[in-house]
Formats: sequence, C-alpha cells, structure tokens
Amino acid sequence: MRENYDRNSISEFLNASLGKSSRYSGLAHVIQSIAQGAVRVNEQVQQAALADVLGTTGDTNVQGEIVQRLDAASSDIFVDELSNSGKVAVIGCEEIEDPVVAGRSDDHAYIVLMDPLDGSSNIDVAVSIGSIFGIWKRDLDEEVSADSLLKPGNEQVAAVYVVYGSSTVMVAATENSVQGFTLDPATGQFFLTNRDIVIPEECPYYSTNEGNFEELDVNTRQAVSDLRNGYSLRYVGSLVADFHRNLLKGGIFLYPADTKRPEGRLRLMYEANPLGFVAEQAGGAASTGYVRIMDVMPEQLHQRTPLILGNKDVVNKVVQTIGS
Ligand code: AHG
Ligand code: MN
Ligand code: MN
Repeated sequence: MRENYDRNSISEFLNASLGKSSRYSGLAHVIQSIAQGAVRVNEQVQQAALADVLGTTGDTNVQGEIVQRLDAASSDIFVDELSNSGKVAVIGCEEIEDPVVAGRSDDHAYIVLMDPLDGSSNIDVAVSIGSIFGIWKRDLDEEVSADSLLKPGNEQVAAVYVVYGSSTVMVAATENSVQGFTLDPATGQFFLTNRDIVIPEECPYYSTNEGNFEELDVNTRQAVSDLRNGYSLRYVGSLVADFHRNLLKGGIFLYPADTKRPEGRLRLMYEANPLGFVAEQAGGAASTGYVRIMDVMPEQLHQRTPLILGNKDVVNKVVQTIGS
C-alpha cells in the first residue's frame, strides 16, 4: 500500500489535536467511538444483500418515512458505541422519536445528534450513503433532558460525517479544523488522508433535485436557473455524498422550501447543523435561504429546514436572489 499518506491514525491525530485542551476533554473519545461505529456500519453496507440488511423493516419512523433495515441497524450501532464511550449524556437520532439518555455524570459531557444512515433511498442500489453527527457540549449545571438537545448549531463544538462510497471516508471538524480520514479495509483503521480541508474558491458543481423545480417560488426558480448557466449538475440523492464532493472539489447544494415542503425537506439538528458546521470551518457557508443555518433556534428535535450549503460566495448569491 502506498505510504504517501500520514500514518496518523484517527485516535493519534485526535489525541494530538484535542487531547491537551481541557475544554475538549473527552471529545477525541466521542469522535473515536463514531469511527468505531462507522467501521461496523461499513461492514454491513459492504455486505448488503449478503448480510441480509437490505429492504425495509416495515415500520415508519417519526418522520413518516419507511425505515430501511440499515437505518435501524446503523442507529443501534451508533447508540451502542456512543453510549459505551462514557462521554455522551444524551443522543438525538433521526430514527428514534425521543432522546436517548446515555449518562448523567459530569464525565458524560457531550450531546450528540445524528442521522445514522443518510441517503436511505440509495441503500438497495449500491449508491453512496453516509452518517452525520453534530456534537455539542452539555451544560453540566443543566438537568439532562429532551431540552438539552435543542441547542442552536452555533454552539456545536464538532461535527463528523462518514461517506460509505467507492472508499469509506470520515471527515471530522472542530474549531477552524477540518480533517479527512480514509478507512483501510485491511486493518479496519481510519488514517489521515486529507489534512486541513478548505472548500475550493472555484465552484464547478451545483446539487439540487431539479424534479422539484416547478414547486419552487419564483425567486428560488431564478436562483436555480442562474446555476444552470456555468455550473454542472451533480445530484446523488445522498446529502452527505453530494456535500463531500462539493467540499473537496467545490460546489453548492440546495434543498430549498417548495410548495410541497414549505418547511424544507432536510432536518435542522442532524443534517443541516452538522454539515453547516463543517462547511463554515472549511470556509464555506450554510443558509436557510434567509438566515445562517447555525443561528436558527431549534424548537423540535426533528424539525425540517430549507438548506443552501457550500461555497460561500455562491451561497450568498443564491440567498440574495431568493430574498430579492
Ligand atoms: P435520509 O436518508 O436520512 O432520510 O436523508 C435523505 C435526504 C438526503 O440525504 C438527500 O439529499 C435527500 O433526502 C434526497 O431527497 P429527494 O429524494 O427528495 O431528492
Ligand atoms: Mn439524511
Ligand atoms: Mn437518515
């Protein structure tokens, strides 16, 4: 195997970059537990039909969406790993209606909101999918409760996502630092392969579901029409895969509000906030189309939001057109 990457494994990197700071004590452990969960989910994703994890459970989740078996399996895996880290007080999860309380001691200093399997419609057809995590510090003076989860995105201390794609990658963002790791399938270890990610100035791609065009309001249609001139459309249907390409190659992702989805389709707490955090640490931006995503005061765990995410200049231009 080529040795031209940093042999820093994720735990060595995190301990070196976060271990010393008391403000983030335990955070490396939380991110490491996500990495361990990602290795377990990756195994199931790679085996797919062979592991009998495709198809639906027959249940409907709090979103009113049919639960894929891998949605449920990945939710169980990450709840297990995060709970066993001993550092997480409460978990909010797309697949679980109510918060999961994992611990109340002062050591349980973090709150995690997660979309354990993003891009569920792509699971059965071997197209890239992923997992998304937002991490907040718990207010130790505060009782651990459902309300502990409802913090604005601007109070996140870290965000992590995984893409199970042609390779399995994990991106971890903390203040002013976005680092990319690649899973070595032979050893089951993540290694640092993309140090200090910054979103490119150039913006060749736009990602949106053009099938919704007729449902958009007139200004948003104008914003999308403007992108059709000069940008290439790339739309996987897995937010996390579209975002990862745009983060590395340059681009903008839009899932605006429309007549069918006046609140937007994506979830604020465990899709828009975490990826908004990563985007901003990498020099990008995330907006509802009117306000900065991370300034939205959440009212419900599973609330939806419109999302314009990626290259800062292009996000600002789209926001200007939507609000004109
Ligand atoms: P999830 O599988 O967690 O429900 O998320 C799916 C989301 C997101 O990943 C993707 O960008 C979007 O749904 C695609 O929506 P459309 O199929 O309406 O384009
Ligand atoms: Mn999702
Ligand atoms: Mn999901």
